[in-house]
This record gives sequence, structure tokens and C-alpha cells, in this order.
Amino acid sequence: LILVVDFGGQYTQLIARRIREAGVYCEIVPYTAAWEELRAKRPRGLVLSGGPASVYSEKAPQCDPRLLRGGVPVLGICYGMQLMAFLLKGSVRRGERREYGRVQVTVRRQEAIFKGLPREMPVWMSHGDLVEAPPPGFTVAATSEGTPVAAMFDEQRRLFGVQFHPEVQHTPFGKDILRNFLYDICSCKGDWTPASFIAGQIEEIRKIVGNGRVVGALSGGVDSTVAATLVHRAIGERLTCIFVDHGLLRKGEREEVEWTMRERLGVKLITVEAGERFLAKLSGVTDPEEKRKIIGHEFIRVFEEEASRLGELDFLLQGTLYPDVIESGTPTAAVIKSHHNVGGLPEDLKLRLLEPLRWLFKDEVRRVGLELGLPEEIIWRQPFPGPGLAVRVLGEVTPEKLAMVREADYILRTEIRRAGLEREIWQCFAVLLPVRSVGVMGDERTYAHPVVIRAVTSEDAMTADWARLPHDLLERIAGRIVGEVPGINRVLYDITSKPPGTIEWE
Ligand code: XMP
Repeated sequence: LILVVDFGGQYTQLIARRIREAGVYCEIVPYTAAWEELRAKRPRGLVLSGGPASVYSEKAPQCDPRLLRGGVPVLGICYGMQLMAFLLKGSVRRGERREYGRVQVTVRRQEAIFKGLPREMPVWMSHGDLVEAPPPGFTVAATSEGTPVAAMFDEQRRLFGVQFHPEVQHTPFGKDILRNFLYDICSCKGDWTPASFIAGQIEEIRKIVGNGRVVGALSGGVDSTVAATLVHRAIGERLTCIFVDHGLLRKGEREEVEWTMRERLGVKLITVEAGERFLAKLSGVTDPEEKRKIIGHEFIRVFEEEASRLGELDFLLQGTLYPDVIESGTPTAAVIKSHHNVGGLPEDLKLRLLEPLRWLFKDEVRRVGLELGLPEEIIWRQPFPGPGLAVRVLGEVTPEKLAMVREADYILRTEIRRAGLEREIWQCFAVLLPVRSVGVMGDERTYAHPVVIRAVTSEDAMTADWARLPHDLLERIAGRIVGEVPGINRVLYDITSKPPGTIEWE
């Protein structure tokens, strides 16, 4: 285990990702964590992250200085190195100018974390302050034109600092530096894999749950499916999953989820048929936020009702991922308060949370899912919003309009898959507009709805670009939708990126 002490740097998550990519398990801890608490986790090494502050300012985040004296190897990155210098009585000052971007450094000591690396190498810098003189016991290990101490070592105490960012891609040898630290200095083996994670988690889940019973809401998405599969491996029949069919699902979705869970994985699954209930609540509602609220609310009610029929329960299974844990800042949330995954937590069920994926990033969840034997279709599933097709029927949701958008969406997805473009795009779907336009079909005048095709590429949904779909594919999709879906007579393609647009239309 490596602990990454977070000082609020923008790259902290990236540091954690890089360490895990090296096959070493790590966790991010806040800089306020007490040394006793960290030591109890028995880390093989510590990494001090970057951060926006100046070490000499009054409110500068500081860690317990015992971190540096505990005999555990430490790598300080950017602010982390400055803090190391500051706490150990070196000197840190404001640089004449901020150094930002690609910089050439000269390595003076090609050993320890720089073992096997070239003498001159490009690195990524982003700092205003700099270390002027390293603390007693340290030597300067690298320099650059604007940074007299670009890296410093105290090999005896196994303390290392780099002013630049080894975790970003613009530091081409960054991976090697981190690996040297992890493997050579901290003696990590690099054997943390999806298989070892699964084995460890199964043991952990059995320990936590004991003889208890677990209930989980299944959405059909990759996170909840992987979480359920993992828990099922650990406790079998004592896990029950509830799948709420709110009538706002895509074509074939319910059958797919039921088949995968029941037939393929043998998980106990209860489907609640609640379409009419949701539609009744949505009747006459046109405001997007109002629609979302109603659906979220109703979801909890349905889930609670169903769960209360199951008798005595102890745990609620959640597919929470590590980025959510880091962002919510509650590393050890125990009892349910609020919930963002399935649209709100059932507050009355006094259940404890079970979150077996809380240490994983999304790509790791996928790797774990594959290792668990889940089908590729589930692993690479597109994100689908909790409120489902309701936010893709603009304005009031009616059964007729749902049927239209569902069919158009199915044609779109089928054609994208046929064209082999599924993996290249982040998401594609159809949106039904609440207006009508005139058209002609055969010899008949039509007066019907337009449908919008939305297809985007993205890394993380924070930003997105419209996908450059081939024109002949768009033509085929448009032809099929207008020809096969009654009520639609026009197809539009959304060429707005995010920002300024969002991915969904509501
Ligand atoms: P926007 O529309 O904000 O969407 O650009 C970003 C991503 O989030 C998905 N999304 C949701 N996912 N519940 C979810 O689980 C929701 O209410 C929800 N709304 C949007 C959206 O599909 C896209 O991938």
C-alpha cells in the first residue's frame, strides 16, 4: 500500500492512477490525517501531492512532520517537495517568474528514482515557488534553468522530492521515476491486479457482512452490475437485487439485464413493473427539473416498498466509485444520508452501506468486471441517465412519445453498432422534440415530430464533442427512422459540443 497525501493539487487523482497502473495499490488521504492513523495502515511509501498554496503562507496546508521521520520512504511532488524542504529546514522562496509547461532538466544523479534515465530530459513544471536550498542531508539531484533544485534526495532517510510532475503525460519519463520509487525504494511488487482485488474484496465482504443480508438497486449499468456480481460471489443467495422498471428504459434493456443477472450470473433479481405508476406521476409535467425530481422520488418509494417486503435486511449495496468518494470527502461514510447513484437514498431503511467498488476508478471497474466474466456488452455499456427516456422526450412524457423515441433510439444504436463505431463514441441516442413540422411521404402530407440524433465523443462526460459520423451512415439512420417509426417525419443531427451544450437535452 502506498498513501498519496493530498494537499489539494489538481493532479492528485492522476498520481493515484499512475501508481495503480504500475500494479501497486494506493489510497488518497487528506493532509490533515494524523500520523498514527496513516502508520496504522502500514504503507510502504508515501507520496506528497502538489497543491496551490505557498508553504510560507499562514494558511498553508501542512502535514504532520512525523511523516518525514517515520522511516517510510517519501516522494514529494511540487508542493510536496517544497513542504518537505520547509519542514526539514531548507529554504523555499517565491520564484522570479512562474514556471509553467515543458522544461528541460539536467539530472545530476542518475540513481535511486532517476536510475536508468537520461541525463537531459523534458519534464512538466507548474509552480510559482521554488526550493532555494535543500535541507541538511539532501543533495540536489536535478536542476533546470529556472529551477535550481528541480529534484533533491536524501537516500539515507529515503526522502525524495521533484519540483516537476512525473504523473502527467508531458513528463515522458515520469512513469519510470514513479516505478523506480515504487519498486526500488519502497520494494512494492507491482502485483495488484483485478484478480487480486477480487480475491481481497470477497474476503472483505464476507467479513463485513457476516451472516447479514444485502439488498441492492440494479440499474443495468456497469457499476451496479459489477458490484452485484462481486457481492454475489462473496455471499451468494444472501444478496437480493431490485430492478425498477420505470417504463423509461430503452428497447430490450430490461430483458437484457434480467437475462444477464438471472441466467448468466445466477443473482437473485426482483423486477418491479412500475411503468404506469411513473407515467401517472409524470402526466402533464413539462419542466425538466420537475420531471427529474418526480422520477428520483418515485424511484426511492418503489425501491423502499419492494425492499420492505424482503424482511430483515442489513446492508444496502451501492456502486459508488473512488472519484465520488474523493469528491464527497467522506472516506468512511457509514450510515445512509444522501445518494446520487440511483437517484436518492431510501432514508427510512436503516441499512449500512456496502460499497465494494469505492476504491476503484472507472477503468478498473471495467477490468474487474471482465475478470468476473461479465459480457463485453455490459462492460462497455454507454452511460444512461437515471430518469431514462423521460429526459429524451422533451416536454410532457406520454406512452406514444416514449414508444417513438424508444424505436428511433433502437434503430440508431443498431446502425452505429453495425458500422463498428460503438467503442469510438461515448454516447448516442435520440431525442424527440415537442414540435411538429410538415413533410410528404408517398403522396401524403405529414405533420409529425422531428427527432434529434445526438452522438458525442468524450473522455469523462465533463466535456464532449459531436461525433463526426459518416454521411452515408447518417443517411441510413434517417431513412430508417422516418420509414419505420410512425409519428416521426424529420431527423436532425446535433452538432453542438459540450460546453456550451450538455450531452442530454434536458
Ligand atoms: P450532461 O447532459 O450533463 O450529462 O452533459 C453528462 C453525463 O451524465 C449522464 N446523465 C445522468 N446520469 N443520472 C445519471 O445517472 C442522471 O440524472 C443523468 N443526467 C445526465 C449523461 O447521460 C451523460 O453521460
